[in-house]
Amino acid sequence: MQPSSRLNRLPPYLFAELERKIAEKKAAGVDVISLGIGDPDTPTPEPVVDALAVAARDGATHQYPSNRGRPELREAFARFYGRRFGVELDPETEVVPALGAKECVFNLNLAFLDPDSVALAADPGYPVYTGGPLLAGAEAVLMPLLPELGFAPDLDAIGGDVARRARLMYLNYPNNPTGAIVPEGLFERAVEFAREHDLLVVHDASYTETTFDDYVAPSFLETPGAKEVGVEVFSLSKGWNMTGWRTAAVVGNAEAVSAYWRLKTNMDSGMFEAVQLAAAAALDAGPPQQMPVIYQRRRDLVCAALREIGVDVTPPKGTIYVWAPVPEGHTSASFCELVLEESGVVVSPGSAYGPNGEGFFRISLTVPEERLTEAVERLRESL
Ligand SMILES: Cc1ncc(COP(=O)(O)O)c(C=O)c1O
Repeated sequence: MQPSSRLNRLPPYLFAELERKIAEKKAAGVDVISLGIGDPDTPTPEPVVDALAVAARDGATHQYPSNRGRPELREAFARFYGRRFGVELDPETEVVPALGAKECVFNLNLAFLDPDSVALAADPGYPVYTGGPLLAGAEAVLMPLLPELGFAPDLDAIGGDVARRARLMYLNYPNNPTGAIVPEGLFERAVEFAREHDLLVVHDASYTETTFDDYVAPSFLETPGAKEVGVEVFSLSKGWNMTGWRTAAVVGNAEAVSAYWRLKTNMDSGMFEAVQLAAAAALDAGPPQQMPVIYQRRRDLVCAALREIGVDVTPPKGTIYVWAPVPEGHTSASFCELVLEESGVVVSPGSAYGPNGEGFFRISLTVPEERLTEAVERLRESL
């Protein structure tokens, strides 16, 4: 048996590796606290679960769904975008549901990349922006996100040949893993760049609904001209505590949305229609308002404790992560291994998100406050 060479080109998927290590420790009887994976610990809002239960009892939802999505869901996305961002979407042509942002980002690579083409991917960044292009047989070229530029890529530094071959550019604000919010002018510059080089901007809006300190995150599609050159991937996973449901959509440029849909008709059979109806109810109700409050409290707790032990951390204005420099004398990997070994706490090494993540580690805020307090206490003792 021989797996494809494209599979062998992939680096190990960070979270698969983390899951393996956690299982090993747990099997050895260690009380592991995992701050590694960004998976909300609070249940999905009750009315959304109720909407699913009602829809699931209707036999009409039990057959193959259509990949275009039910009108109820597409219209709910359009209503949400109008209300929340002031962005008008045509539910007929500018919205297609996705089985999570991850599926959508991955498949956009298959829909837009050829073997000699390039996807521009943030470094550090969500690993699918680099793994996806590789699996599509194309190339991911990294755009460094540096703290001194507010974690914006320097689009002027992207060279002629790379810019010529680029078909996709991935942006993601509020940003995983750095927690950065979109730097002023970046979306406008991205629209210009996309026009100059005829590429599709894909803005991953997975964290627009989890922001702090009165910051309200914009949609990329609010930017003048954005719909001519871009799409946004909007997910209910984080904002609505719905990671298990696999509910997202690609919205924006009709040609790109249609290309994604054409690809999908060959790949999967869409989203369970009862889930589509529940997701529509979730969008109409809006994200649960208490979640940013809960994450903000956890953020403050973690940042204060890290500062006390000498870690110079900037509290993020969005996402569910704290991104912090590792103590002197450590690499990202050596620090995370030490923390796991000494304290049974899992944090993610920054280097797993790209070379510019080296020297950092990421803490996920998706555990209850008492566990977070205990984790930070254990960290303090192990350093
Ligand atoms: C930036 C980013 N995009 C996409 C995803 C995946 O989201 P979904 O659950 O909608 O597939 C994540 C999950 O952590 C993420 O951090």
